Amino acid sequence: ATPIIATRLVPADEDGIAETAQVLREGGLAAIPTETVYGLACDATDPHAVAKLYAAKGRPSFNPLIAHVPDIEAALKVGRFSPTATALAQAFWPGPLTLVVPAIEEATSPLARAGLASVAVRVPAHKVARAVLKAAGRPIAAPSANRSGHVSPTTAGHVMADLLGAIDLVLDAGPAPVGVESTILDCTGEVPAMLRPGGLAREDIEAVLGHPLALPERVTDEETPQAPGMLASHYAPSVPVRLQAGELHEGEALLTFAGRALHGTPPVRTRDLSPVGDLVEAAANLYAYLRELDAPGVAGIAVVELPSQGLGEAIADRLRRAAAPR
Ligand code: TXA
Ligand code: MG
Repeated sequence: ATPIIATRLVPADEDGIAETAQVLREGGLAAIPTETVYGLACDATDPHAVAKLYAAKGRPSFNPLIAHVPDIEAALKVGRFSPTATALAQAFWPGPLTLVVPAIEEATSPLARAGLASVAVRVPAHKVARAVLKAAGRPIAAPSANRSGHVSPTTAGHVMADLLGAIDLVLDAGPAPVGVESTILDCTGEVPAMLRPGGLAREDIEAVLGHPLALPERVTDEETPQAPGMLASHYAPSVPVRLQAGELHEGEALLTFAGRALHGTPPVRTRDLSPVGDLVEAAANLYAYLRELDAPGVAGIAVVELPSQGLGEAIADRLRRAAAPR
């Protein structure tokens, strides 16, 4: 059995950041805030720390982790960046973008890369995350800080709900401002391909590239790495999720957008992702509202149709996974 650890909840001040960096340098597990979601961080060069991280998350299979670094200079020591990858890094880092590039093999543990010859690299924009990364002084592996298959955490409270007793520390810097995970681009081929829509919109990336992104050969998913076209149940509440609902059924909660109401039985609970119809605000609220609607007395969650442009692509992706059969 996995031993129970006394998890410390620490505010993200100077002392908290120093304490977190020390936990990481000593091979421990610390949840840290990023602008997208909270990440479960460990030393990406330490196979023991990475093995502990997989166990704490309960990932059914080993799946490659993103190496987080404080700046482009540090990123160049972890992977080999083509001119296109470099241009994307310069345009969008720090920020909610992850670039998959050929790995510099000795820079991270093979376990953190799940044995792949490529590595996913990200420079987060969150001030606290960057301060921790700078102080840790090595690439930090950080999947979302949830138990595998659960909704990703956007607050320290969400992390505690999932991982209390399984990790050393949670660094609390308040709600994650973006609210959905980073956009992942595969930059190992000729034209970059989107493996996962996320906090950086496709339109912004294509504007910098000057042409469309390629279609991915495979999508990226926490539970099913390398599985072409698989749409595993993920980011999943415990009750069924029904998309593009036209009317409400008995016992359902409503997840809506821009003030839209549905006919049928009155909802047992309602959350509006963005009353003013802003997709950036909707992304920031998505995971917290899914958790809030996943409550006793709720038989299912009905979701209205949302606009598909901008961050709508990432929101639709996460909702599809939440609604997938399990
Ligand atoms: O916003 C984010 O990206 C958050 C925060 C904490 O930074 N992290 C995150 O990590 O979402 P995670 O582990 O939940 O998702 C990372 C995804 C996984 O689905 C994994 O399969 C994919 O990145 N990935 C990692 N390395 C890869 C590689 N070399 N090739 C393809 N996909 C890769
Ligand atoms: Mg995740």
